[in-house]
Amino acid sequence: MNPIQIALLGAGTVASGVVKVLERNREELRRRAGREIAVAAVAARNPDKARAALGGALPITSDFEGLATRPDIDIVVELIGGISPARELVLSAIAAGKHVVTANKALIALHGNEIFAAAQARGVMVAFEAAVAGGIPIIKAVREGLAGNCIEWIAGIINGTTNFILSEMRDKGLDFATALAQAQALGYAEADPTFDIEGIDAAHKAAILCAIAFGVPVQFDKAYVEGITALQSTDIRYAEKLGYRIKLLGITKRTEQGIELRVHPTLIPANRLIANVEGAMNAVVVQGDAVGPTLYYGKGAGSEPTASAVIADLVDVTRLHTADPEHRVPHLAFRPEAMHDIPILPMAQVVTAYYLRLRVADQAGVLADLTRILADAGISIDALMQREAGEGEGQTDVIMLTHDTTEARMDAAIARMQALPSVLAPIVRIRKEELR
Ligand code: HSE
Repeated sequence: MNPIQIALLGAGTVASGVVKVLERNREELRRRAGREIAVAAVAARNPDKARAALGGALPITSDFEGLATRPDIDIVVELIGGISPARELVLSAIAAGKHVVTANKALIALHGNEIFAAAQARGVMVAFEAAVAGGIPIIKAVREGLAGNCIEWIAGIINGTTNFILSEMRDKGLDFATALAQAQALGYAEADPTFDIEGIDAAHKAAILCAIAFGVPVQFDKAYVEGITALQSTDIRYAEKLGYRIKLLGITKRTEQGIELRVHPTLIPANRLIANVEGAMNAVVVQGDAVGPTLYYGKGAGSEPTASAVIADLVDVTRLHTADPEHRVPHLAFRPEAMHDIPILPMAQVVTAYYLRLRVADQAGVLADLTRILADAGISIDALMQREAGEGEGQTDVIMLTHDTTEARMDAAIARMQALPSVLAPIVRIRKEELR
């Protein structure tokens, strides 16, 4: 059979990994896919630079739109990143009857519904394994491997940059700014690391996982997003004394009231496997009603790990290229006509446990005032610790772990505690999940 013809849009790190691995594993891939996967051409903003990066043999053009719609191309691989022109090019490719493979989490998180509807109407596939957790085949696992389950929740370390920073803060006692500078020096963080450290990149991925887990549209705009910029190493140390690690988790959970979709620093028990995922690695726990918890671990970024996911999609698309569109796996795991409109809950309705740190005056009655406010709010304390603050006369840190409560109740209780004259600094609140 003739090779299937692919066009690469973009010539960066992932594209060079795709070219390299396609070449290295050419025979193995032909045995898997039934035909060769051939790179017909590459579109790059700077063709000379791309030629140097990808090797001289590939035709390289700067006409992205022309390549995305060229008649001989079967699959367009979008590796540009960002929203524009990636969105326009993907829609043009679909309109021209091309299948699309993309690693673009922001694009799928923000415009996935529009893109999947266009692909459905045109009878083409859009595959996006590389958009979540890089080389970990988590889309395939949730969408197909766990199809027998009602998914109950997913919790993942799905941003390697922030996990590296948190690992450095814990291991070496570094503050956030120093750990970030190290991540940048080692090439983990982007020059503008905002999307990573503010939790936006993780929220893009969590929104995609939410959709394929529960059969709802992709709803990044409903996600609660809190990054790690305000996290202090003091809290990492106190959490450790209490038997917890702090990780930036993307969490999505089905509850009777609706679906939770949130990204925030989270205390998790130190003895959970996922708590021990260090450095730039990613890991995702998926809880299914039949299978129980399953854990997926691996590299969430990088040239060849991401290429691994892109090429798996290429093999899938090649195998299903001639199949009746009705017989393909739905883009969002559930058939489009069977999607649910279960609401994504506002953060005020989310139920979780909390870690609180309060800098207070070290005098009689302070603890009683604090615990009275929590008791009035119906919030039960799980653990309590007091430490000399080591700075300033007559001050101390009170650290509390609570049982589950709603965010709204906790907000109200924190506001009341903050108003006490004996509370001397802004109260630190970090959510806690047992991941049972
Ligand atoms: N910036 C991302 C990370 C890259 O740090 O995980 C992969 O999406």
